[in-house]
Amino acid sequence: HKASLIVDKDFVISQIDDRLYGSFIEHLGRAVYGGIYEPGHPQADEQGYRKDVLDLIRQLRVPIIRYPGGNFVSGYDWKDGIGPKDQRPSRLELAWRTVEPNQFGLNEFVDWARVAGSSVMWAINLGTHGVDEARNIVEYANHPSGSYWSDMRIGHGFKEPHGIKTWCLGNEMDGPWQIGAKTATEYGRLAAESAKVMKWVDPSIELVACGSSGKFMATYPEWEATVLDHTYDHVDYLSLHTYYGNADNDTATFLGRSLEMEDFIRSIVATCDYMKAKKRSKKKMQLSFDEWNVWFHSNDADKKIDPWQIAPPQLEDVYTMEDALVVGCMLIALLKNADRVKVACLAQLVNVIAPIMTENGGAAWAQTIYYPYMHASVFGRGQALVPLVQSPKYDTKEITDIPYLETIAVYNEEAGEVTIFAVNRDLDNALPLDVDLRSFRSCEVISHLVLESGDLKAANTAARPDRVKPHEGGNAAADGFTVRAQLNRASWNVIRVR
Ligand code: AHR
Repeated sequence: HKASLIVDKDFVISQIDDRLYGSFIEHLGRAVYGGIYEPGHPQADEQGYRKDVLDLIRQLRVPIIRYPGGNFVSGYDWKDGIGPKDQRPSRLELAWRTVEPNQFGLNEFVDWARVAGSSVMWAINLGTHGVDEARNIVEYANHPSGSYWSDMRIGHGFKEPHGIKTWCLGNEMDGPWQIGAKTATEYGRLAAESAKVMKWVDPSIELVACGSSGKFMATYPEWEATVLDHTYDHVDYLSLHTYYGNADNDTATFLGRSLEMEDFIRSIVATCDYMKAKKRSKKKMQLSFDEWNVWFHSNDADKKIDPWQIAPPQLEDVYTMEDALVVGCMLIALLKNADRVKVACLAQLVNVIAPIMTENGGAAWAQTIYYPYMHASVFGRGQALVPLVQSPKYDTKEITDIPYLETIAVYNEEAGEVTIFAVNRDLDNALPLDVDLRSFRSCEVISHLVLESGDLKAANTAARPDRVKPHEGGNAAADGFTVRAQLNRASWNVIRVR
């Protein structure tokens, strides 16, 4: 029972796009109100931005944040969120059955994201809006001046254009739960025409077309093929979404779900490349995995929330140690596909299925899943290297051939560092690992971080925010050009070598 990995700097999957470590904030639950924005909180700055939350976000080095939804966006009028706050309307928000006070909107988000050190990925409403609003919002956000919408932005106090580069053409438009859901043909046509005029307003932008809401949709993957048939020449990315859960407490299977995620990515790549061939196109469609996470803990509680409240506690999953392992495996799945997945957004960032939790008026803290996400974002920049892995495997009722070892190495040439991310999926036993670093001239272990817990159901809470957190006590050590380490049972490991 042991595993090995060969790390060779000449076997490169791809340069990793920094945006692989993106995240997502939706006007949903307490993500915005009571999350990133809470005027009157002791930690709030003059704008009402919570500094404690900003600190936690900055440590994650989040390169890009998708906003304002999610299902929310399909009924959202972006114009409700601009201009003097006391004149903004409160609206019934039909996606999550709340009241949206519109005290935070486009300009606030762009400004907040700048303070957080992130760029903005804006999703437009293609549920109830159409081509006209699509071009108007790009003009408002990105046109320098001298036109109705750009001058209005300037009048709102933002002289410089926001320069929002990445735009999502709607959200999950295949889902019957979506406001203004569409067939693939209806959506494909609308997305293509919206894309066309948006790029006429600002040719420098990049666009993401909606793929399926998930593999579970009956219309998957025909949806993708049809949508791409209409949009291929107009868009740059196709989106993927996936969430995993462990409702029946089958942890061995839960830990294997990232294999499904990889299979999903491969199928979407194949669909994109089929369309490339059909169109005789030179363009390679890239992927935006703009919603991914574990989501299931809050499902029952959410059913009991009364409608039409402002910012009720929705989708507040409290994440456990085992969830952090799944998130770690999902991050590795994204890295393994870094040649095609250029953008990915952990859904979401604060309070709503999120690595960061807050109390209204109170503390902010990091959930278990914060740590693999932070490690990948901070140490996983550079080139993803082909994982040449040998590992014992296991089967569950649902998934077969799950390797106990899930791993990938990232080479950061600038820093002269290699980082090995590794999960031991074995729930009972430690896994000895040999990493062969034959192509490197030196081999010195900088650190071996470990996230683990005696209790796989352990979580961080306001009362015990540090119950699950990484320690430096891994035993990785160099032996010539081999690094040997013991990966403790059910652990996330970050081994940095120079
Ligand atoms: O992230 C939560 C929700 O999941 C999003 O609003 C929606 O796009 C998806 O179904």
